[in-house]
Amino acid sequence: MSDIQEAVRERYAAKALQMASPGVTGRLGLACNLSTADLTTRVAEWKAIDGLALIGRDEAGGSVTSTYRASPETRAELARLVAAERGCCGTADWSLQDEGDELRVTVRASSGACCEDDACGATYSAAELASVGIDPTASLGCGNPALLADLRPGERVLDLGSGAGLDVLLSAKRVAPDGHAYGVDMTDEMLAVARGNQTKAAVTNATFLKGTIEQIPLPDASVDVVISNCVINLAADKRAVLREAHRVLAPGGRFAVADMVALAELPAEVKRSLDQWAGCVAGTISIGEYAEALRDVGFSDVDVEITRETRLEGVDGAIASAYIRARKEATS
Ligand SMILES: C[S@@+](CC[C@H](N)C(=O)[O-])C[C@H]1O[C@@H](n2cnc3c(N)ncnc32)[C@H](O)[C@@H]1O
Repeated sequence: MSDIQEAVRERYAAKALQMASPGVTGRLGLACNLSTADLTTRVAEWKAIDGLALIGRDEAGGSVTSTYRASPETRAELARLVAAERGCCGTADWSLQDEGDELRVTVRASSGACCEDDACGATYSAAELASVGIDPTASLGCGNPALLADLRPGERVLDLGSGAGLDVLLSAKRVAPDGHAYGVDMTDEMLAVARGNQTKAAVTNATFLKGTIEQIPLPDASVDVVISNCVINLAADKRAVLREAHRVLAPGGRFAVADMVALAELPAEVKRSLDQWAGCVAGTISIGEYAEALRDVGFSDVDVEITRETRLEGVDGAIASAYIRARKEATS
């Protein structure tokens, strides 16, 4: 595994643990502008205070309230942690109430979108989310590729880097009853979250496979549509990924992904940063390079549409979310 792949795997393993944790930092997917190491520390800090003083936790209507036994140490630690979470990416409102013998921490989801460090904003309707019973914090993506792909009943769909599985489950609903949706991900912790979400959503026409998107564990010409959401930028060898996408598509198959692209050259120190790579920044390539790579591996009808520009704080250069479509020739 390359240094880049290892940094990416570590980042998303930590994200998956955060999603899977029944603690407040997991359920609402918070602490999202932290580095991998800081995120792991934060999750451990919440677990430690839970272990020491948590009495109970209630969840209703987008809020989670945790009740702790009061003590001077617990009061101080909760105040510190809540202040730290408030300084995060703005996807939630936090409050700490002192009620004498008990301390209550409430966290409520707010409207801010936060796919990763760059808040690139996936778009799912409430009805779509309700259809699989999963909240939008399961998404670390930058668009809605299942919608983009215009899926039809009976189709076979593959999601590259399926994360917590939201796009796979939404795709499975769209291609049901005879179609099937596959997700490929290299991170065991993410696969576990995705399979848990599949059970929760009671979707039977979906399969999560362990593997890399550089070597997709599916046969040639086995799917009609390849989707992906904010993942291809993370690959060190993007041509290998696009070549594999082309291989697994049946003739006439569609490629429809949401991804981050570079709009202006990033500084060399940002491009070298493994942390910025794992955060969907440093691995971005220009629209021109993306289109050229798609054509080089055999795709046609290449189309790139910028959906949202992101200015990075303290960093020259610019990146953007984009929808990228292409087609495998019907005769190839
Ligand atoms: C930014 S998250 C996006 C997850 C999901 N697509 C979504 O929209 O929520 C990146 C995901 O891709 C996976 N991933 C990154 N690089 C990969 C690779 N080379 N092969 C397989 N999975 C990869 C990570 O494990 C992680 O689950």
